[in-house]
Amino acid sequence: MLDISKIRKQFPILSRKVNGQDLVYFDNGATTQKPQAVIDSESNYYQNENSNVHRGVHFLSGLATDKFEETRNTIQAFIGAKHSHEIIFTKGTTDSINLVANGFRTLFKKGDEIIITELEHHSNIVPWQMCCEQSEATLKVIPLLDNGELDMNEFNNLLSESTKLVAVSHISNALGTINDIEEIIEKSHKIGAKVLIDGAQAASHVSINMQELNADFYCFSSHKMFGPTGVGVLYGKEEILNELSPYQGGGEMIKEVSFSGTTYAELPHKFEAGTPNIAGVIAFKSAIDFITNLGVETIAKYEDELLQYVTSEILKIEGVKIYGTAKNKSAILSFNIEGLHPYDIGMIVDKMGIAIRTGHHCAQPIMEKFNIPGTARISLAIYNTKEEIDLCINAIKKAKLMLS
Ligand code: ALA
Repeated sequence: MLDISKIRKQFPILSRKVNGQDLVYFDNGATTQKPQAVIDSESNYYQNENSNVHRGVHFLSGLATDKFEETRNTIQAFIGAKHSHEIIFTKGTTDSINLVANGFRTLFKKGDEIIITELEHHSNIVPWQMCCEQSEATLKVIPLLDNGELDMNEFNNLLSESTKLVAVSHISNALGTINDIEEIIEKSHKIGAKVLIDGAQAASHVSINMQELNADFYCFSSHKMFGPTGVGVLYGKEEILNELSPYQGGGEMIKEVSFSGTTYAELPHKFEAGTPNIAGVIAFKSAIDFITNLGVETIAKYEDELLQYVTSEILKIEGVKIYGTAKNKSAILSFNIEGLHPYDIGMIVDKMGIAIRTGHHCAQPIMEKFNIPGTARISLAIYNTKEEIDLCINAIKKAKLMLS
């Protein structure tokens, strides 16, 4: 049996007040809160283990390196990667995507095509625009249907011999749509294109296994899965990562440096120039352990219950329109209320201690498609409850009364 109150007790921030009210945190799509184990792990590093990794022969450096690499091994197991050196530590999903897009800059040429989708976060749009600018490849976009699903017929039409890479999010941060990435990967591979999946909203909400998925790249961020900020993961297949040029030069990523030329280190170090966020990486392991102990399937099932509940409750408010009504959805609910600006709704519910996100959610093309300035977004996590949803719905009703 899932004991949510026991889970909530692990998150110290959840017992704080905001504007004199108990905090209701519904902005998990932006970042999740951190359990005590993650906070302790980060502070324990600075109290007892602080040293640089992969550099010293002394005790502390060895300890920090072992713990840093332990997280890499934990992630390898968590996502079912074949090798631990296929796990590259980055600053976050944005950094991971930029690393790949930068690497392809010199491999793509005029006539090549990259396919993305209309529901991408800006971090899975702009790096490809930059890649196309430099390589002269062309960017193609799979359009959205009105319910927030991808138009897969259009995807089939866009795929061609010229397609070299398809970059798509696993779950839309703005609409909650869970994309059929299995079909996208299979069809793209048939014509020889590589596939990058932006898994920022997915990694702690649906189970992912690289051997089953067969994605060429999969990116995610620690901070959206109960871990510290400033840590991300790029998973890439060994043979493809080996083909890409390093993203940044510096310490750690070299084999030998001389003025006549430099050779690069093996994976994963080739892509990990400079001192990384060691404390964050080490604490990320505690976050993965937290997820694994609960079980991703259990998390997904509970969050789905919350999504069904919040959806049915919000639809009882007159004038509500939900954006993103795909059959397969994660626990993200984007909505507007007729005649009200989402920003005003966010401001008023905040006064009642409720944190939701408002705006374009770094996905302006989606807003353009629906012809709206933005939405109010409730994004849920395992520690949220139906009682919190009731509080939020009441707060939205009050906001509506005040603003109408
Ligand atoms: N990408 C994050 C969000 O959706 C910041 O809120």
